[in-house]
Amino acid sequence: MLKGKNIVLGITGSIAAYKAAILVRLLVKEGAQVQVVMTPSSKEFITPLTLSTLSGRPVLCDFFNSNSGEWNSHVELGLWADAMIVAPATASTLGKMAGGIADNMLVTTYLSMKAPVFIAPAMDLDMFAHPSTQHNLEVLAGYGNHIIEPGTGELASHLSGKGRMEEPENIVQALKDFFLGKSLLKGKKVLITAGPTYEKIDPVRFIGNYSSGKMGFALAAECAACGADVVLVSGPVSQPTPSGAVERIDVESAAQMHDAAVKAFPACDAAILCAAVADYRPATCADKKIKRTGEGMVIELEPNKDIAAELGKAKRDGQRLVGFALETNDGELNAREKLAKKNLDFIVLNSLADKGAGFAHDTNKVTIIDKEGVAEYPLKSKRDVARDIVAHLSKLLLALLILVLPLDTFAVGEELNAKVSLNSSKVQGANTEVFKVLEEAITQFLNDRKWTANTYEDYERIDCNFNFVVDQYSPDGSFTTSLIVQGTRPVYGSNYSTTVFKYEDKAITFTYQPYDRMEFNEDNLDNNLTAVLAYYAYLIIGFDMDTMGDLGGNEWLNKAQSIANNAQTLGDAGWRAMSSENNRYSIIDDYMNGALEPVRKLMYKYHRLGLDTMYKNVTAGRKVITECLTMLNKAYEDRAMAYFPRLFVEYKNDELLNIYSNSSTKERQDAEKIITRIDPSLSAKWEELVSKPAEQL
Ligand code: CTP
Repeated sequence: MLKGKNIVLGITGSIAAYKAAILVRLLVKEGAQVQVVMTPSSKEFITPLTLSTLSGRPVLCDFFNSNSGEWNSHVELGLWADAMIVAPATASTLGKMAGGIADNMLVTTYLSMKAPVFIAPAMDLDMFAHPSTQHNLEVLAGYGNHIIEPGTGELASHLSGKGRMEEPENIVQALKDFFLGKSLLKGKKVLITAGPTYEKIDPVRFIGNYSSGKMGFALAAECAACGADVVLVSGPVSQPTPSGAVERIDVESAAQMHDAAVKAFPACDAAILCAAVADYRPATCADKKIKRTGEGMVIELEPNKDIAAELGKAKRDGQRLVGFALETNDGELNAREKLAKKNLDFIVLNSLADKGAGFAHDTNKVTIIDKEGVAEYPLKSKRDVARDIVAHLSKLLLALLILVLPLDTFAVGEELNAKVSLNSSKVQGANTEVFKVLEEAITQFLNDRKWTANTYEDYERIDCNFNFVVDQYSPDGSFTTSLIVQGTRPVYGSNYSTTVFKYEDKAITFTYQPYDRMEFNEDNLDNNLTAVLAYYAYLIIGFDMDTMGDLGGNEWLNKAQSIANNAQTLGDAGWRAMSSENNRYSIIDDYMNGALEPVRKLMYKYHRLGLDTMYKNVTAGRKVITECLTMLNKAYEDRAMAYFPRLFVEYKNDELLNIYSNSSTKERQDAEKIITRIDPSLSAKWEELVSKPAEQL
């Protein structure tokens, strides 16, 4: 996510400056270029040498290089950066940044910055709580800077409270989330309706409602921040137009809002209907101000068109529609009715019964309801609520993108030709779209990635299957699944394929959300799903290569082993930590450390010399296979607890029964002895074969 990104890291004079060294290291590890800019007082806490060593670049502190007299250009830095982080940010620097006091290199760089700025304050609890600090933070947030709130804990003063700089890992995560978020709706066009409508009674009076437009404008801001083009159709409000690609169309009445929305919708990927549209308008609008008569008065009303329902009818495949329901009673019931009646993809319910929710407030408390379920959120700022809504919408749009692209779009002739199936029947009541998206994401990950430096033609790709059965899934994205992974290769000159590797991994745990990228860096594993997939991808390639020549797969098997080693810290996902012989790590361990040397030789001999020869001469081929079984027996004798010999006879059992079906009784008996010794559970089928009369001697 941060690979290739240019980051300016501003460091100020706080005891937390030592954490900046960790921050630099983490950013560099993520593949970012880091330019450190220090305030003079920060040098009292950490040396420029440490930071220049870690970042691989000279640190900037002064306006001029004192040796060469060269100007350090803060303007160029402002253009170069993809993001700026100020961490730690002292109260003094916050004040200077908020007030534009550019008396050092850091603040001038900040003022020249074109990229988003992240600020991680660090100070004593009283300084942090002081109204002037809070005011400065508010000002800075108002300018669009991202404040990374400090944590609570023990401070340098030995007091305990809020003021500890956020941990470097979390600062990096905030940056990653930001860059991920920025592309969530890239290339999408979103229509948003916002605010109230005014229905005229006469030239000076109207029927309206209390809607302030805040929620709709927060949604427009969030969609634009996520990379969408936004068409914002707004009733009369006093909100500033959000920055970014927002086309604002101001309307007054429901009829005008209807016309603008209906016109814009066909070109949009989604619409969020947030406006509080008047359901009725006066049947006539007096052209002159209505005079007081002292009598009672009746205004006849006629219904407005339901914009949401009309767009719901017009919605084509691939478009998504989101509605709001503001209810005073029976919230969920009413919202569900609207969801169905207006053909919405989901509806956001806010209840006037909730404190801090609804019109004019800066906060809102919502429940997102769709056909699959209900997600309740706590009271949050309207911008944060907008984030939740946009995250939900982007999942739907992303799912769609992956689902509508045919699989061929992803096939680019790399090493693996993986067929992936994900069986979710054990999980009841979950959103099945998640499983489809995951299945496609895994297929794409395995097939699109270039796993070796070799060139593979399309027909040379290794056929393999990854069959998942999901045991547990929770909507926070955590999965527990089993996986049967199998690699096959064609037998020379025949239409027959032989299994080269097969293994059942009983419990894989990982988290996945439909908008997660399947990012994989084998030197820096941070995701159990991609680590497991890469592990098996390399095993399949390695074992396949082993069948092509003696020790041919070493390079790829080594890679698999190093992933297993590096994955030790990825939670309790059963890498080496599980010492049972069924541990996915142990299959490769014995094989690679030489304990199963006969098995390695057998791989080549069995698949290439044995099966390929069998195609031309059954007896000669079988002779080679018998020699292979002797090698297998040797491997078993050397290491009875090793998993691979058992694995081998298990996945080859049917093939072996077939191979010996025409052999002499003696050959069958010899094979039976070896195979059933390794795996006694296979005895019945072999006894049956041995007892059959030999057809060919
Ligand atoms: N809506 C709309 N056009 C209308 C009325 C409502 O687009 N003429 C949209 C709102 O923007 C909201 C959703 O429909 O997304 C539900 O609005 P709401 O006023 O709660 O629903 P109504 O259908 O008007 O039902 P009621 O007023 O009876 O609760």
